[in-house]
Amino acid sequence: MRYVVTGAAGFIGSHLAEALQVAGHEVRGLDCFTDYYDPALKEENARGLDVRRLDLAEEELDFSGFDGVFHLAGQPGVRSFGDVFPLYVRRNVLASQRVFEAAATAGVRVVFSSSSSVYGDAERYPTPEDTPPQPVSPYGITKLTCEHLARAYARSFGLDAVVLRYFNAYGPRQRPDMAFPRVVAALVEGGSFTLYGDGGQSRSFTYVGDIVAATVLAMERAGAGAVYNVGGGQEATMNEALALLEEIAGRTLDRRHGPPVPGDQRRTKADTTRIRDELGWEPRTPLEVGLRAHWEWAAGRVGAR
Ligand SMILES: NC(=O)c1ccc[n+]([C@@H]2O[C@H](COP(=O)([O-])OP(=O)(O)OC[C@H]3O[C@@H](n4cnc5c(N)ncnc54)[C@H](O)[C@@H]3O)[C@@H](O)[C@H]2O)c1
Repeated sequence: MRYVVTGAAGFIGSHLAEALQVAGHEVRGLDCFTDYYDPALKEENARGLDVRRLDLAEEELDFSGFDGVFHLAGQPGVRSFGDVFPLYVRRNVLASQRVFEAAATAGVRVVFSSSSSVYGDAERYPTPEDTPPQPVSPYGITKLTCEHLARAYARSFGLDAVVLRYFNAYGPRQRPDMAFPRVVAALVEGGSFTLYGDGGQSRSFTYVGDIVAATVLAMERAGAGAVYNVGGGQEATMNEALALLEEIAGRTLDRRHGPPVPGDQRRTKADTTRIRDELGWEPRTPLEVGLRAHWEWAAGRVGAR
């Protein structure tokens, strides 16, 4: 098959593009290498992949001749109030609207990477897909807007779209703005780590390899219009995850405390019944195993600096 992967120089997109190549597919990556974090890391992620530099929010898009589009490009991170908000609108809402338009025109399926952030402070835990979304960050609001846009394009122009709500991805190449890379750097280099909030906030941490497997299955097997949670099987608080990393490192973290991040959810816990029943996907990587892989990758890099 011939697939487009948007955001192919990013954390999850580069893993996905590699997995598709290994499975024998032809992959065209699209990415504009934003400077949200060091673009040199993205250059490294993109090594060995065919990634074209293209801004989805303004350049011409033509998906004819492809069998599907994995749309992962976007502006992640819940620190999305204030001056950065226009970037979230441009890189999430505007870019996605243009991707959906082009995919509908070419008649190709889009698998869209949405987020557990659409749930906000959810009414139920574990949270099934039909829980009313109540995002608490501008980021979550832009991702939910994209979901609505996909549905609008499906209704009016027959867009074949599948929505995946990823829950806290981690693993090698994780974005440096996320907590674990900062924890590993502090553990290896002996610096301090600032934990925002009391550490009691919990997450369905999901290993990137499991996320990739769910994303490929969604392209291959999901029904048009389907929405799935993609979440790790084990809920853990930040304090628990940090303790595991300390155990793996054999060192104690110099922990400082900062105020909670505005827009951060207190809890995420995925109900993955639907994706298990319909696509046969289950998270396979226990947190400890995934954190070990993450540690080995990240500690090697920090040590080599
Ligand atoms: N990492 C997570 O835990 C997580 C959780 C839920 C949802 N998601 C979603 O999954 C997707 C991938 O996340 P990630 O963590 O790999 O992020 P990432 O920032 O590493 O990757 C996103 C990529 O998109 C590119 N991009 C942004 N705007 C673009 C544009 N206008 N045109 C072309 N390229 C553009 C960036 O340069 C970047 O390489 C995002 O859509 C994100 O919202 C991620």
